[in-house]
Amino acid sequence: MKIAIDGTAASGKGTLARSLAKELGYDYLDTGLLYRSVALQAKEHGIIDLNISDKKIAIARSKIRKLINIAHLLTLPLLDKPDLRSQETSLLAAKIANLPEIRDILLEKQRLFANKPTSGLGVVLDGRDIGTIVLPDAEFKFFIDAKPEIRAKRRFAELKKSDSEVLEQTLLDEINKRDAEDWTRRIAPLKRLPNAFFIDSSSLNADEVLQIALNYING
Ligand code: C5P
Repeated sequence: MKIAIDGTAASGKGTLARSLAKELGYDYLDTGLLYRSVALQAKEHGIIDLNISDKKIAIARSKIRKLINIAHLLTLPLLDKPDLRSQETSLLAAKIANLPEIRDILLEKQRLFANKPTSGLGVVLDGRDIGTIVLPDAEFKFFIDAKPEIRAKRRFAELKKSDSEVLEQTLLDEINKRDAEDWTRRIAPLKRLPNAFFIDSSSLNADEVLQIALNYING
């Protein structure tokens, strides 16, 4: 069984995917972590920074080769860590997500993971192109969204525990920037499929979203 969950940044799709996987005993993959891991390593090796334009990355073949090596070397499951969640890594990940060479490598890793769940039962993947590209044959597809201001508020509540300098307005700007990149990307843009079950989580808590998803799955 395959469950595909797509949605906007900080919409609650990761929380839903993780709790659904736990509830059903399925394997779980946060696919954003793959893009974030390539971005973080690229930053640590000085390959890209926030000042670089997408065009410049595309022109610099030597940089692309280095990014390809990093992507090839990723092994799943990836460990989550605070550096991967920083605002800088988020924005760099959205830049890297525009590169077809990197998407192809990460696509293969995601499909391998989905086709061999260690649980032997099923998988839940969350991201931006799961229902459209990674697992078009998924039995259940979800699309999660919430108002940008609410998403920024939630991210703020999460980040302020570890970063006392963080500002809610900065997070809202970052979310709007990433939304724009995700919806308009040339390759594998974020798309709300007509056959994806839509949940607007703006006025719902995590438990309510989980119950709605479980009701849908259980028919
Ligand atoms: O989901 P998360 O916010 O961790 O993803 C980080 C970035 O990785 C996103 O802004 C998006 O640009 C990219 N991404 C993607 N396709 C996915 C998952 C994430 O392009 N399946």
